[in-house]
Amino acid sequence: MKKAGVAILGLGVVGGGTYQILTEKREFFKKTQGVDVTVECVLEKNVERAKQLGVEEAKIASSIEEVVVNPNVDIVVEVIGGTGVARTFVMKALMSGKTVVTSNKELFAKHWSELESAAKKMNVGLFFEASCVGGVPIIRTLQEGMQANKILSIKGIINGTTNYILTKMADEGWSYEEALKEAQRLGYAEFNPTADVEGFDATYKLSILSSLAFNKKICIENVYREGITGIDKEDIAYGKELGYTLKLLGIGKDTENGVEVRVHPTFVKNDNPLASVNDSFNAVHLVGDAVGEIMLYGRGAGALPTGSAIVSDVIFAAKHDEYFYAGFKNNITGNKETKFAKDFSSKYYIRLSVKDTAGVLSKISGMFSKHNVSISEVKQVSMGDGSAQIIIITHVCAESLVKKTLAKLDTLAEVFSVKGMVRIED
Ligand code: HSE
Repeated sequence: MKKAGVAILGLGVVGGGTYQILTEKREFFKKTQGVDVTVECVLEKNVERAKQLGVEEAKIASSIEEVVVNPNVDIVVEVIGGTGVARTFVMKALMSGKTVVTSNKELFAKHWSELESAAKKMNVGLFFEASCVGGVPIIRTLQEGMQANKILSIKGIINGTTNYILTKMADEGWSYEEALKEAQRLGYAEFNPTADVEGFDATYKLSILSSLAFNKKICIENVYREGITGIDKEDIAYGKELGYTLKLLGIGKDTENGVEVRVHPTFVKNDNPLASVNDSFNAVHLVGDAVGEIMLYGRGAGALPTGSAIVSDVIFAAKHDEYFYAGFKNNITGNKETKFAKDFSSKYYIRLSVKDTAGVLSKISGMFSKHNVSISEVKQVSMGDGSAQIIIITHVCAESLVKKTLAKLDTLAEVFSVKGMVRIED
């Protein structure tokens, strides 16, 4: 039977879950996978935490050097996070001839080429299933399950914290601040929630996923990013009345005009399968030219879900002696040869606060028509104080035209302000 020794760097939530699965299911993996995987050592500053998890004292390493010279270690699992020590430790492990499994999306999104070059040079594996969408096996699906397809689009709810916040704002009518506070209390959002709520976490994941989907290295700088901090619960409520649900989507499309990659709050129709992905759940919807639509759904974070993805990489690595590398043609040169769309098209939801007097609506619609933006639906709500809220849904049109229209509307005396603009994805 094939044997593999594992070292776990970091015994936080995910490291603890990984340790638990690997140790509790050793016999199960022997039977079902034909591999004997053992945890040979851990690197964790908090020795008490390691002991509480049941790690023998002799297996608690005190430095990365101790880990990489250990001949019993074949696979190093990095679950520290960030790009500081994690990057140094991963490079040391690779350059010492160890296969690496990581859940670190930021490290991967920022330093993929460097890591892959080291892995190739040393002829070792580099696995990152847990870096995107936690327990949902999206990386292996893209690498091993979709080879027959040119992937046309990838759309996903790839951040659980923001999905929890938006779900509570929609279902309970909470403000953004109230929902964030509860997300922090439940441990979804961190004390400093910026990475999640401003869309950085989703950007890292979309950069990785769209690179695999379109077989081109898509850097994080190529991803348009907007978070959810500017979202007003009024827009969620008006959207709901019009049949839409608000989600923070990661969207990648490979179109004739070039590649589009963007993370932003998006309305989806209530009957879109992504609309019913609630709370902290994640989902990814793919369209392949052969298979058509597929969707994967599950938990994008947490000890056992993310541990599940890590262990699947560990077992894959233990069973294989030859490794596959993404090897994008534009890996080293960046993506100078990749054509990115300069503009993109969408439907739009727009909310204006206006003076509630005769002729205002026609002035506003005239401005849309002047910029060649076609309106498909209008709703007006009188506020009883001399103002009205006008909600406009457009047909599909170029974003640049919508932005020009909104800039001009803002200059009209009858328009108090543009309150909200949300892209709609069918
Ligand atoms: N913080 C992430 C989320 C999980 O809320 O989805 C890890 O990427």
